[in-house]
Amino acid sequence: MYIFIETLCSESKVFRYFLYILPILIFFVFKKLISKQLYAVRSRNKIRFQKEDIDDDDTVQMDSHHGPCSSGRNLTFDPIPFLPEVEHIPYCGLNESLDESGDQFYNLAKNRRSVRNFNREKPVDLAVIEKCILAAGTSPSGVGTQPWTYCVIRAADVKQQVRAIIEAEEYINYTQRMSPQLLTDLRPLQTNHLKPYLTDAPYLIIVFKQIYGHRPDGKRMPHYYNEISVSVSVGILVSALVCAGLSSVVTRPECVGLALKKLLKRPENERFLFVIAVGHSTDDCKVPCIESKPLQEIMVTY
Ligand SMILES: Cc1cc2nc3c(=O)[nH]c(=O)nc-3n(C[C@H](O)[C@H](O)[C@H](O)COP(=O)(O)O)c2cc1C
Repeated sequence: MYIFIETLCSESKVFRYFLYILPILIFFVFKKLISKQLYAVRSRNKIRFQKEDIDDDDTVQMDSHHGPCSSGRNLTFDPIPFLPEVEHIPYCGLNESLDESGDQFYNLAKNRRSVRNFNREKPVDLAVIEKCILAAGTSPSGVGTQPWTYCVIRAADVKQQVRAIIEAEEYINYTQRMSPQLLTDLRPLQTNHLKPYLTDAPYLIIVFKQIYGHRPDGKRMPHYYNEISVSVSVGILVSALVCAGLSSVVTRPECVGLALKKLLKRPENERFLFVIAVGHSTDDCKVPCIESKPLQEIMVTY
C-alpha cells in the first residue's frame, strides 16, 4: 500500500502537489461558507429594516375564484358587503370649480415645496386643519373603505415626544440602517437625524392606515389597497393645505411606527404611514433647488 501511494505521488503531479493544493482548497471552501453566512445575516437585517412596521394583512391579491381578498389574517367570507346596498342616485356634479383652464390650481401647486423650517410665531387655526382633513377624507379609496386615520398633534409636550422618538430612530437609521447608496442619494437634501421642525411646526399630522375594519357585528373586514388609498388621500391633504396657504413636509421615518402607535394609543388595526409637519414657513426658509419634471417626461398621450 505504502509503495502504491509512493508510486502514485511520484507519477502524478496532482498527488505530488497535493499537500500544497489541500490548504488552498480548504481556504476557498471556508471563504464560500463564511460569505454565505454573512450574506444571510445582511439580508435578514435588511428585511428587518424594511419590514419593521409592515404587516402581512397589507397586500391585496386578486384571487380568480373569490375576487380581491386580503392575503393576511384569516378573514372568513361574509355574504353581506361592507357598504350598505344603497340605491344609486343621480350625481349632482361638481358645483364649484377654480378656473376651468386649470391654471389657478397649477399656479398654487407649483409653488409647493417640502418645508423644514416653520415659523413658531405664526399660529394656524385648528379649523383650517380640520377643513383640510375633511377634504382628504373625500378621497377615493379601495372599495370605498376610507382606511385612514389622521392624528393631529398641537400639544407641545406630545410634539416633543414625537420628535424624541423620531430623532432617536433616525440617528440609528442614518448611522447604521441606511445603505451607502441611500445616504449618498439623500445628501443633496441636507437632511439628518435632527428634526427641529417637528417641534417648531404648529401641527404634526400623523397618518395611520387601517389595515382592516370592523363590520357592525364586530367581524373584521378587509381594507383593500389600504396603503395606496391613504397615499391618495394624503395627496389631497397636501393640496388642500397648499390652497389654504400652508406649508408642509411629508415624511416617512423608518422604524418609528410601533413607538408612535403606542404613544398615540392607536388600535390594533392601524399602522403608521407618515408624519406631516404643517405650518407657515420662516422668512429665511431655504429648499433644495429641485425642478418638477416637464410635461413631456411625465405624460404620454394616446
Ligand atoms: C413618501 C415620502 C416620504 C418622504 N420622506 C421624507 C423623510 O423621511 N424626510 C424628509 O425630510 N422628507 C421626506 N419626504 C419629502 C421629500 O424629500 C421631498 O418631497 C422631495 O425631496 C421633493 O421635494 P419637494 O417636496 O420640495 O418637491 C418624503 C416625501 C414622500 C412623498
